[in-house]
Amino acid sequence: MQTLTITTPDDWHLHFRDNEMLAETVPATARCFQRAIVMPNLVPPVVNAAMAMDYKARIEAARPVGSSFEPLMTLFLTNETSVQDIVDAKKAGVTACKLYPAGATTNSDAAVKGIKALYPVFESMQEQGLLLLIHGEVTENHIDIFDREKVFIDTHLTQITAAFPELKVVFEHITTADAAEFVAQSNEFVAATITPQHLLLNRNDLLVGGVRPHNYCLPVLKRNTHQKALRDMVASGNKKFFLGTDSAPHAKHKKENACGCAGCYSAWSAIELYAEVFEQLGALDKLEGFASHYGADFYGLPRNTTTMTLVKENWDVPEQVTLADGTDMVPFYAGQTLQWKLKSAFQSA
Ligand code: DOR
Ligand code: ZN
Repeated sequence: MQTLTITTPDDWHLHFRDNEMLAETVPATARCFQRAIVMPNLVPPVVNAAMAMDYKARIEAARPVGSSFEPLMTLFLTNETSVQDIVDAKKAGVTACKLYPAGATTNSDAAVKGIKALYPVFESMQEQGLLLLIHGEVTENHIDIFDREKVFIDTHLTQITAAFPELKVVFEHITTADAAEFVAQSNEFVAATITPQHLLLNRNDLLVGGVRPHNYCLPVLKRNTHQKALRDMVASGNKKFFLGTDSAPHAKHKKENACGCAGCYSAWSAIELYAEVFEQLGALDKLEGFASHYGADFYGLPRNTTTMTLVKENWDVPEQVTLADGTDMVPFYAGQTLQWKLKSAFQSA
């Protein structure tokens, strides 16, 4: 039987949510990931070091017994974020700050309205060595939703990376050829995460034959030429591109709704989905770099020392999962058959 053993991976972008939801989401990720960058878009958002450390403790308390999973915490930037917040965050052990343009996505109303006004904060992050993680979409009504990433690059990202050439910037969940090209051509302080859905799907998978709410996320799926550009990039083994699932759980009734929420809950099948992509690309040898090496290297953290083994064996992603309070959630790829299955994790190398 075919097996694949790689260094234990990390997830450089996900959403755990809070409270009761943690009993579902933390074990799902800790089943095979050693670390994860935890998004701060709670209600209210995680805007300072004290909130981040309290949230970290709640996540740690939800780990399965014996798990050494490590949440890496982030602050949600607002126009009230101060240089002192950055200094305090660094001291407390916060890893990065997340920039959401206001209104860009789930729970982002409190986010940044004037990016230029945040430049003193970026300056301090550059000094302190905190990373800047960016949801790269403009939110102006007149900009077409399929163009919002490209317009963000042209109107904001180019300026930010030019003004702060040594600020580590992660362009999160990129969806376009334009973004892939921008990151590839930027200096070594600019990298990107790519989700399983943006590698596996394009906008036909959202809209042809009926609206598929469980494939709806932000940035929205793009046309297949963009999907191909992302696939070509990961197949090339470029070190600036690494794994970030953007696993983002929502209750089933909030996705299957007249105004459905954005987000794909992929944690239970994420590493298997990426394996499927890399196999389709004939690039299984590039999975380890993408999933387990390049992210840690970019963040300046040690690579994991244990390994994980996947086995080539068909299994079906469950149709739904039910939380302790009875809430149903539909995982990404629900009911579909995957070819790679997690066999064992956290093996001593
Ligand atoms: O689809 C998304 N869901 N994109 C985001 O940027 C946020 C996320 C969420 O929090 O649900
Ligand atoms: Zn996200």
